[in-house]
Amino acid sequence: MAEHDPVLCQEVVQELRVRPRGRYLDGTLGLGGHALGVLRACSPPPYVLGLDRDGQSLKEAESRILDQGLSEWVTLARSRFSRFPEMMRQLGWEDLHGAVLDLGVSSRHLDSAERGFGLHQDGPLDMRLDADSGEETAADLVNLADRERLERIIRDYGEEPMAGRIARQIQQRREKAPFRTTLELAEAVKSAYPAKWRRKARRHPATRTFQALRIAVNEELEELSAFLGRIPESLRPGGRVAVISFHSLEDRLVKWSFRKAARGCTCPEEQMVCTCSGRPRLRLVHKKPITPSAEEIARNRRARSAKMRVAEAPEDR
Ligand SMILES: C[S@@+](CC[C@H](N)C(=O)[O-])C[C@H]1O[C@@H](n2cnc3c(N)ncnc32)[C@H](O)[C@@H]1O
Repeated sequence: MAEHDPVLCQEVVQELRVRPRGRYLDGTLGLGGHALGVLRACSPPPYVLGLDRDGQSLKEAESRILDQGLSEWVTLARSRFSRFPEMMRQLGWEDLHGAVLDLGVSSRHLDSAERGFGLHQDGPLDMRLDADSGEETAADLVNLADRERLERIIRDYGEEPMAGRIARQIQQRREKAPFRTTLELAEAVKSAYPAKWRRKARRHPATRTFQALRIAVNEELEELSAFLGRIPESLRPGGRVAVISFHSLEDRLVKWSFRKAARGCTCPEEQMVCTCSGRPRLRLVHKKPITPSAEEIARNRRARSAKMRVAEAPEDR
């Protein structure tokens, strides 16, 4: 199997201060790159609970971990990461020494046309991370959602200035025949762009729309919010959480959630004024996010937009 280059792996291991026989969560196991980094960080290794929604990724990660002779230290489960407290309970773990999330899709997802994430190769318009979940696909969404909902998704999750035009174009096009493939959708989105913008664009005009649909189909922001709400209480004193994000919507959510926990506030999100005067549940380890070095970006293009934020449970909680 080819060597896999997980984003900011050394930094994750260093920031989590991995200790022998500690308990660590990798909520986005993927091909197991960060989990293996954590496992190899010390001897004896720590225990790792690895979760992924995608069954294929889990299988590949399992075989990598087995190849390294480290499987006795690892428990793998097919699960959304928002459900990590239930998984910990099943293992009898009361708390964690550390947790990591490396958000988004893996290059394996983007490279396999049949999963429908990429807009450059033709494949079924699917985009589900758990492909056999029976839940709504990207095709269901673009063919069935009303125009206002589509416009909202494309604008809010894609930060797409042409959301209105694109939603109208999708609506007109699907009246003739439903969308079935990624290239059909990519072409329709492209044709909604004014010719002048198309000529100036540095990326394919459908890039933001594809990101938006993927986020909606997989409820990615809801998943992240649920995780961020649950992690402070699951860390032992001094335990750390590291989250690597790849776009501003995710990074903003992580930043605000960590800041709110560091203020000690547990008031509902929609409440404007804090009335709880709670104790800090996290401490920010760095003011600014950690980003990959120029060498890492040169080696791995996927790393170029990564930002990692790290927070720690206070010792005196
Ligand atoms: C960028 S990849 C992680 C790569 C991994 N760190 C590695 O080194 O190989 C993200 C992974 O997280 C999974 N994923 C995304 N959202 C998830 C969620 N809410 N719950 C569980 N897994 C999720 C995806 O299926 C994908 O395999």
